[in-house]
Amino acid sequence: MCGSRRYLFVAALIILSAGASSGETVFHNGGTGSCQGCHTTPPELRASDSSSTCLLCHQAPLNVLVPSGAYVATDTRISPMCLQLAPGGDFCWVKKDYRWSLTGSAQTFYSRGERHGHNIVAQDFGFSADTRLLHAPGGNYPSISLSCISCHDPHGNYRRSASGAISTEGLPIIASGSYSTSPDPSPKGTVGTYRMLAGRGYQPKSLGGIYAFTADPPAAVAPPLYNRAESVSETRVAYGSGMSEWCQNCHVNINDNATHLHPVGVRSQLSNAIVSNYNGYVTTGKLTGVYASAYTSLVPFEMGTSDYAFLKSVANSDGSVLTGPTRSATVMCLTCHRAHASGWDSMARWNTQSVFITFNGLYPGIDNGAPAECAQGRSALEAQKAFYDRPVTMFAPFQRALCNKCHVAD
Ligand code: HEC
Ligand code: HEC
Ligand code: HEC
Ligand code: HEC
Ligand code: HEC
Ligand code: HEC
Repeated sequence: MCGSRRYLFVAALIILSAGASSGETVFHNGGTGSCQGCHTTPPELRASDSSSTCLLCHQAPLNVLVPSGAYVATDTRISPMCLQLAPGGDFCWVKKDYRWSLTGSAQTFYSRGERHGHNIVAQDFGFSADTRLLHAPGGNYPSISLSCISCHDPHGNYRRSASGAISTEGLPIIASGSYSTSPDPSPKGTVGTYRMLAGRGYQPKSLGGIYAFTADPPAAVAPPLYNRAESVSETRVAYGSGMSEWCQNCHVNINDNATHLHPVGVRSQLSNAIVSNYNGYVTTGKLTGVYASAYTSLVPFEMGTSDYAFLKSVANSDGSVLTGPTRSATVMCLTCHRAHASGWDSMARWNTQSVFITFNGLYPGIDNGAPAECAQGRSALEAQKAFYDRPVTMFAPFQRALCNKCHVAD
């Protein structure tokens, strides 16, 4: 009934500190952390490779069984579930292979782990390069060299000044610039770029060839409590602008690709009709929503601004600001994808391979009688985790794809 479905964006239509755990202390503080956190003596790293060095602190240790702090990976030895719920997603999903077949059919369907995210290479932690995508689709960044430091500058040199300019030199970095509680840059100092993301001119020193970024990091602000279940309230990162351009540092021509042509960035400013669809849409069949409470982190949008005072007033995780888009909003890569990994193919925010994301009022699972084409090899609890622990009642009993938040079709 769910149908195994691929959203081909039909071409013609174009469619579209040493040992410190990241749960507690400040380490990078927006810039270069203590050398010993990552190096025995520079440039020797504390682990076999760059990503493994990061995961010394960023994979949750064995005693942490709840989403917390800056953990971006669950140790699969301690939990069959991917437990971390930060906006970028838990890298553990890339270790989760699913397969299923339909009653009376010999055909097997797959949702392989490597489809669920960016396959960072971290030898000490069992993460290895993608075997199908050898380069970034739409570009030529080599998958074999994909690591945390492909995207984040390990030395945190990129900074934002009071004028909004991004640079690698100049006034010192006084703190992280990622949060609604971060200080503002001033004549006294700068703040780190959003999530220490690298900008123009960057490529890891050890990476041969020419892959230097051409776009600076996005303007965005996260709430200080960002790694948490969304069972009661949304975790709202205020995405301002520049995310799609930043992703295209590696996925340069993704939007020239005939199979993936959804407009993003400045080309995708929402029309009046789409703004009112987003704001009105609650769930499949329920279109009684209003602007003031329309937001869901399952379908985020960029607000079309780099005004940090405004972004800080919007980022929250207590449900205080749930406003939907206005005409200045745009679609971005993270409208549909997560940045690290997700429970679904193409690291999408919801299952884009199934017609329904709920079935008969339940998350479809191999353990609750849902049809195999809906459960797609997952347990109901895994599906719930992939939806950041939302109770299934937040959706319609037969909830359709969240493209409908903007393109109401039924
Ligand atoms: C958050 C982790 C982290 C911290 C903190 C850190 N480094 Fe590094 N450093 C790395 C990684 C990862 C590489 C490998 C970069 C590559 O492969 O291109 C590296 C590479 C280097 C290199 C060689 C290549 C280059 O980029 O210049 C030097 C020298 C170096 N670090 C010095 C330092 C010093 C000095 C400090 C303290 C002031 C420091 N690092 C702090 C992670 C870190
Ligand atoms: C010694 C422990 C340690 C190591 C090693 C480490 N981190 Fe962190 N990281 C932390 C802690 C603690 C936090 C949260 C507090 C902070 O931001 O300083 C954090 C936060 C972060 C953040 C969010 C920062 C912000 O301002 O938004 C990023 C991004 C990050 N780490 C990336 C990395 C990368 C990439 C590496 C490897 C090159 C790495 N970390 C290595 C401890 C570590
Ligand atoms: C392909 C680029 C990319 C790679 C590879 C990557 N990150 Fe990130 N990371 C991002 C982006 C973009 C965000 C912001 C996500 C958001 O706000 O939606 C982020 C967010 C984060 C955060 C904040 C928590 C969160 O999920 O929002 C931490 C901590 C972090 N990254 C650490 C890491 C570590 C450690 C690695 C390697 C194990 C890594 N990242 C690999 C792009 C990347
Ligand atoms: C530093 C280069 C780099 C950046 C920046 C980058 N990617 Fe990627 N991306 C890759 C590579 C390499 C692959 C192929 C290997 C893989 O999937 O692990 C990939 C694969 C993907 C895939 C396919 C996953 C799958 O298996 O089907 C998606 C979706 C994706 N990226 C989205 C994004 C988004 C969204 C951003 C911005 C937040 C982004 N990428 C930023 C390098 C990058
Ligand atoms: C409107 C939703 C949406 C937006 C916006 C979007 N994507 Fe996708 N993307 C998808 C879906 C759905 C798929 C899976 C396609 C399929 O099933 O054929 C996908 C697939 C991909 C893939 C995998 C392609 C492959 O060859 O396996 C990459 C890489 C990717 N997207 C990157 C991006 C980047 C980078 C951006 C921003 C420039 C972006 N996407 C914007 C929905 C979106
Ligand atoms: C945040 C809102 C939003 C979401 C979510 C969204 N779209 Fe769109 N979509 C747009 C906008 C804006 C356009 C630009 C054209 C317009 O205004 O109608 C567009 C255009 C399209 C087009 C026509 C392409 C063209 O160039 O005219 C297709 C097809 C499409 N979207 C499919 C999808 C699919 C499939 C999904 C889910 C995977 C999706 N969209 C999710 C906002 C969205």
